[in-house]
Amino acid sequence: MRIWKWDFRKQAAALVCVALLDGAILGAAMGVMQPGQKVSAGSSGEIEQLPHSAWMKDVQADASAGGGKESAPKPVKAIALTFDDGPHKTYTPMLLDGLKERGVKATFFLMGESISGNEELVSRMQEEGHLIGNHSYRHIQLTKAGEDAVCRAVEQTEGIIEDITGDRPQYLRPPYGDWNENLECRMNLTTVFWTVDSLDWKLKNTDRIVKRVEKQVKEGDIILMHDIFPTSVEAALQLIDRLQAEGYRFVTVDELVID
Ligand code: NI
Repeated sequence: MRIWKWDFRKQAAALVCVALLDGAILGAAMGVMQPGQKVSAGSSGEIEQLPHSAWMKDVQADASAGGGKESAPKPVKAIALTFDDGPHKTYTPMLLDGLKERGVKATFFLMGESISGNEELVSRMQEEGHLIGNHSYRHIQLTKAGEDAVCRAVEQTEGIIEDITGDRPQYLRPPYGDWNENLECRMNLTTVFWTVDSLDWKLKNTDRIVKRVEKQVKEGDIILMHDIFPTSVEAALQLIDRLQAEGYRFVTVDELVID
């Protein structure tokens, strides 16, 4: 449940430090990294200059297809809501109901040990068009557990999800955002971090979560939340209503992958 505290406003400063330490982790700042993809060593300046428009595909097409009611269509800005640590027997269904009402697709990074008894929720996510990713088996710090333990935990969760949906997840969010280059080499999974940390697990206050995200969010962002708290679910649904009114469109993270 506890996640790496990543304050967006400190991101630029953190990036400089991270770049010096580990080129692979540099990808965290960009939100998504392809398996085997090498982030060019470069400076943090290069990363910050990446246009968000380069992260998206088909956004323009979707924008024109959805129009037709108002005179001047608003520009569409794609962002992704991501939910870690579920599924949760009570709160995940509430979230799925709210997403369905609003026609929004999200990304769920499921924890293997939370799936048992909640298999129908995993099926429902798939049926309703959400993207299902892997959040390992339980909340351990992967780089401390060792490569073998990490691979087993990720593989076990891959198998559990595949048994339910028939598909192996292709996206992994490591607990705590903790990862390293050696692990990357051993998994055929795309590692997905985040660019906006809602701190929902810590705030547990709907208004404060909404305000925090609204203040930071911009086109192309990947927002980190957890569908295991009622305040998080309520905040996510309020954010959808408010951000949709501002011209944002919610997509799954595979639509934000860097080319
Ligand atoms: Ni987590």
